[in-house]
Amino acid sequence: MTDNLFPIDAIIRSRRTSMLVDKDRPVPTELIEELCELATWAPNHKRTWPWRFAAITGPAQLRFGDTIAEAMATFGDEPAKVEKARTKYARTPVVMVFGSAVGDSELRTAENRDATAAAVQNFMLGATSRGLATYWGSCPKGANDPVAQFCGFEPDTTVVCIMYVGWATSTVETPQRPAANITFLEK
Ligand SMILES: Cc1cc2nc3c(=O)[nH]c(=O)nc-3n(C[C@H](O)[C@H](O)[C@H](O)COP(=O)(O)O)c2cc1C
Repeated sequence: MTDNLFPIDAIIRSRRTSMLVDKDRPVPTELIEELCELATWAPNHKRTWPWRFAAITGPAQLRFGDTIAEAMATFGDEPAKVEKARTKYARTPVVMVFGSAVGDSELRTAENRDATAAAVQNFMLGATSRGLATYWGSCPKGANDPVAQFCGFEPDTTVVCIMYVGWATSTVETPQRPAANITFLEK
């Protein structure tokens, strides 16, 4: 690994998927707004600005869990997983949902999703640099549309990420990362 020559290198490397947070310390709304603004600096083809954000806090987190649990039950998930979903989204002070708008072609919809993933990373790096822990979770199968509706997103929005967010209380061990696999083509 090279040295952290630039401040952003250290931030990129220190971001870890973590839910080790202070459950009682709220994350100010202004800070969520600041991070979502940072997210919007992500590249996006044709400037479709495809990202959609929702911040879920307080009792809405349990309503969110119930929405997901119902969708999982309809999908046929195991009852134990369904019950866990009812409370799991209340484990951190904030849960963020990142949606990606449908495009005017299959390709554009795929590119929108790529752009939204870049926006999620911007959000996470901004959060890391401020002392917040983040944890990217996938939307459970069958829950995309109920989640999008819960969040007030347009129909056909793809839920790219359900993220747990809170003030970090400790650091997570850094796993060894495999070396980058690079093909250099010069001629
Ligand atoms: C598209 C995507 C979906 C993910 N979904 C989940 C998930 O559903 N559950 C989970 O535990 N982690 C999920 N993760 C987080 C990865 O497990 C995590 O990034 C990986 O273990 C590497 O750890 P690090 O982020 O600390 O480097 C997801 C990450 C991405 C990029």
